[in-house]
This record gives sequence, structure tokens and C-alpha cells, in this order.
Amino acid sequence: MTVLYDDIGELVTNDPAVGDGSPLGVLTDAALLVDGDRIAWAGPKNAAPAADRRVDCRGASVLPGFVDSHAHLVFAGDRSAEFATRMSGEPYDGGGIATTVAATRAAPTEALAANVARLATELRRSGVTTFETKSGYGLTTVDERRSLEIGRRFTAETTFLGAHVVPPDHRGDRDAYVRLVAGDMLAACREHARWIDVFCDRGAFDVDEARYILQAGLDADLTPRLHAGQLAPGEGIQLAVELGAASVDHCTYATDVDIAALAAGGTVATLLPGAEFSTRADWPDARRFLDAGVTVALATDCNPGSSYTTNMGFCIAVAVRDMGFTPAEAVWSATAGGARALRRDDVGALSTGRRADFIRLDAPSYIHFAYRPGVPIIGDVVVGGVSI
Ligand code: NIG
Ligand code: FE
Repeated sequence: MTVLYDDIGELVTNDPAVGDGSPLGVLTDAALLVDGDRIAWAGPKNAAPAADRRVDCRGASVLPGFVDSHAHLVFAGDRSAEFATRMSGEPYDGGGIATTVAATRAAPTEALAANVARLATELRRSGVTTFETKSGYGLTTVDERRSLEIGRRFTAETTFLGAHVVPPDHRGDRDAYVRLVAGDMLAACREHARWIDVFCDRGAFDVDEARYILQAGLDADLTPRLHAGQLAPGEGIQLAVELGAASVDHCTYATDVDIAALAAGGTVATLLPGAEFSTRADWPDARRFLDAGVTVALATDCNPGSSYTTNMGFCIAVAVRDMGFTPAEAVWSATAGGARALRRDDVGALSTGRRADFIRLDAPSYIHFAYRPGVPIIGDVVVGGVSI
């Protein structure tokens, strides 16, 4: 069964070999042929092949589905009161994570799964067609494994984050907790995870603890991705590059040396505008990364504490308004950038053979994500060739 999405005013392919020659590979007056769950052809509409069915896009913009490479969806509870105190000037230090850990441990498995299902639906509606999710609110062997087993029901991109913070029950002996994470907890979680993550930052884990845990993950065939540089400068960003991590996330306090290391290495820097927004933190200057040639992704960081949004369009708007991205760079980072951060080459672009995951806007240009902030401009989301 083939479907031709015809009369596309602006088709973002993320294939620099086609269209205007920019990284977004924009084709005007285009068409897209879908065969099953794959893209069969993309090109000018007047050269479109025949298809079993035709969908008239009426001059709209079509772009790859967003790839959200950083989210924490397995949790219970609400921290809106904590958010309100921050808006009145309280700093964010990650201390609220313990509140979510207590609620998550107490929640029935099916309640946690229902919450992930709700958030996954929100993500889809905001145009996210691939997403990652982490453990990190269980922080016991049983609760971390359970979180990953639940996450796995919704996505193949699951990350073991037993090293989110030292939980209250181990505050007296953090070395024992680090050994637990790198030992029995990792062994129990490995089966349900593709990635391993450590929150390497002030008040969480230091660089030696992070290296020890991530090396254990590497030895168990999990690839690292890190949280680093969110709350303070530190050695986490360079550790990520040293270990060949797929991505290092937040990078709010990245130094010039960190950025040079990222540019020289292969690790993606993932910026998370929702976190700066929701913690009232200073914005990282994305130009420093982009102008140095670092591969940059944008992700939601959806979690109940520091960034409770599933809306990638909102993140793009903030990235453009306050972090120095052009609209084109922000859209690339939320699609192709996210795919690089997850080391996926089947998503994040619309060229022959890729997955048919895309968004049709109720707007003529992707620029509208920033130009019309907060407006629901998503007309349709297609996942694996199927319109939701
Ligand atoms: O990515 N930085 C650490 N982890 C989360 C926040 C977790 C929380 O506050 O619940 C983040 O921002
Ligand atoms: Fe996070």
C-alpha cells in the first residue's frame, strides 16, 4: 500500500544532498511517497510517482517527526508546589528528586505504566515520533528494574539511571550505593536498557564515581550518555567525550575547554531549554556550541521536577528566542540532532528508506514553531506510515 503526500509547500528532508543545499534539505512544492512504514521517494511534486492513495497537504510544511533523546517518564507524583517556589526565587538543586523517588516506589506498576502512556500520548501530539526514557526514580535494584521494564513497553530507547542521586536510604554510605549501581543493580537492569546514564554534577555524582559506573556499563555492553554541567561546571562533559558517550546533556555550564573537547570528539551535546525555563536558570548560549562545530540536539527532558513539558515546539521556541538558535538549527537539532544523540540513522530525516515518521503542520513553514509560540500548529503526525 503506497500513499502520496502531495502538494507539500515546504518539505524538510534533513538530507543536505537535496533541495536548497542547507542541512535541512528543504524542497519546495514537493511530494512524499510512503510505502508501508518507510519513505519510498521524496521530490518535486510534478515528478511524483503514482500511488494507491493521495493525501493533499494543501501547501503545508512537512518535516521529520521530532526525536526526543532525553526524557524521564517513569515516575509518580507531582511537584508543582516546588516549581512555584522556584518561580519566587528558590534555586533548583535536584533535592526534589527524593520526593519523586518516594512516590515512585510507592506506586503500583500499572499506575506508573498508565502515567507513561499518558505522557507518550502527549509526546506524539507534540510531534515526537521517537523518544528515549530513563529509570532514576526507583533507586533500588527492584524499582530501577521495574522502571526500565515499564519504559521498554513504550520505547526501545531506555536508559539505566540508577546513578541519578544517592537515595536517602544510602546517604550514610555513598560508596556502597555506587558499588550497588555498578554491580547488582546494573546486572538486574541490563536486560531492559540500551543506555547507561549518570547525573554527574554538583550534589549528585562526581567524575570518579561517574567513570566507575559508566565503565561498568560499558563492560556490560551499555553505551553511556550523561547528565553534566546543569548545576555547575565540572569534568562530566570531558568524561563523556573520553568514554565515547553518545550524548552529554544539559551542558548549561560548559566551558570553552568542554566545547573544544566536544567539537574534537564524537559526542552530541543535548541542550534542554525546558530545564532552564522551569528552574529559572541562565540560558546556555547555543552559538558557542554551534559555531564550534559541535553536533547539538534539543530534547524535552520531560520530568516532574526540572522540566515538566512534552512539547518540543515549545522547546524550539525557547531555543530560538533565548538560546541563540536559528529556527532552522533548532528544527534540525530536534529531529536529526536527536537521532544522532540516539545513534539512529532510520529516523530524523525524510529520504528513501527511512522510517515514515513525519509531521504535517497547519502552517506554511517550520519557522512557525518559534514565530507562533504555544499555538497548536501540528495538523497531523504520521508514525511508521500511520497517521495518528
Ligand atoms: O534532567 N538533572 C537531573 N535530572 C533531571 C531532573 C530530575 C528532577 O528534578 O526530578 C533533569 O533535569
Ligand atoms: Fe534529565
